[in-house]
Amino acid sequence: MAKAKIAVVGAGNVGATTAHIAATAGLGHILLLDVVEGLAEGKALDIAEAAGVQLYDAGIVGTRDWKAAADSDIVIITSGLPRKPGMSRDDLLEKNVEIIKDVSQKVAEHCPDSIVIVVCNPLDAMVYAAAKVTGFAKNKVMGMAGALDSARFSYFVASELAVDVRDIKCVLMGGHGDTMVPLPRFTSVSGIPVTELLDEAKIAELVERTRKGGIEIVNLLGYSAYYAPAAGAVKMAKAILQDSKSLIPCAAYCDAEYGVGGYFVGVPAVLGAHGVERIVELDLSKSEKGQFEESLAHVKQLVTKTSQFL
Ligand code: 2OP
Repeated sequence: MAKAKIAVVGAGNVGATTAHIAATAGLGHILLLDVVEGLAEGKALDIAEAAGVQLYDAGIVGTRDWKAAADSDIVIITSGLPRKPGMSRDDLLEKNVEIIKDVSQKVAEHCPDSIVIVVCNPLDAMVYAAAKVTGFAKNKVMGMAGALDSARFSYFVASELAVDVRDIKCVLMGGHGDTMVPLPRFTSVSGIPVTELLDEAKIAELVERTRKGGIEIVNLLGYSAYYAPAAGAVKMAKAILQDSKSLIPCAAYCDAEYGVGGYFVGVPAVLGAHGVERIVELDLSKSEKGQFEESLAHVKQLVTKTSQFL
């Protein structure tokens, strides 16, 4: 079988880390793209040299030339400005929509058969922009947020209970922002509902920490997270390339699903060779539904604002 080709757009912290994790996972041939001269080339060379130590089999090339992205199976868009302390993800909208517009035009021109994973913020609105500008089928465009946010919630639950994080399964919905909706009722430790193991107040604290998980890192570093976001993007790419039908929360297009009415928003989705293959509809409680609707309303506002720039 021919090796898969993954184009990672943006060679900053998230892009370069995505390329490195994808390379170590042996996902396929990796192309790292950036507009800054030497950046993608330098990072790709460094990652290629690390293969001699870590012993992974990855062809990786860095370039500014979009022609090299032809025939990519997956394009992971990480380009865009990251947050600084005091900023919300929404503050990035005007700058990042220009970037995503330009990148999406190039994706449509050079990689018309690819599946696109968007990582830049404000996430749900940037996925909308990428879908609109590429004109790709809705199942072939999605956003990485739930994989990251659910990983954060899993980590906080595992730390609190002093158990292996790999035993935690959790679902999280809504937009990638302060209104995201971690779902404790659908979170378990090897099948035991977390609601059996932690009291309500503690769970509420962990939910709140998850909602603020991005800014917690921004405040520590002065810029935004990249190891976990990159790992989330690679997890999604792997599910698609290996057609594993993995259930991963991500920003997927929903119309009738959850009564969303035609927006990209975080939902549990089955990822496989066709991209988003299915959205799993949970029977939400009144309170969960209310939280999801509040989050969706915020996503809709961001999309309205984004449309003005497209
Ligand atoms: C985060 O939550 C970068 O939005 C990303 O860390």
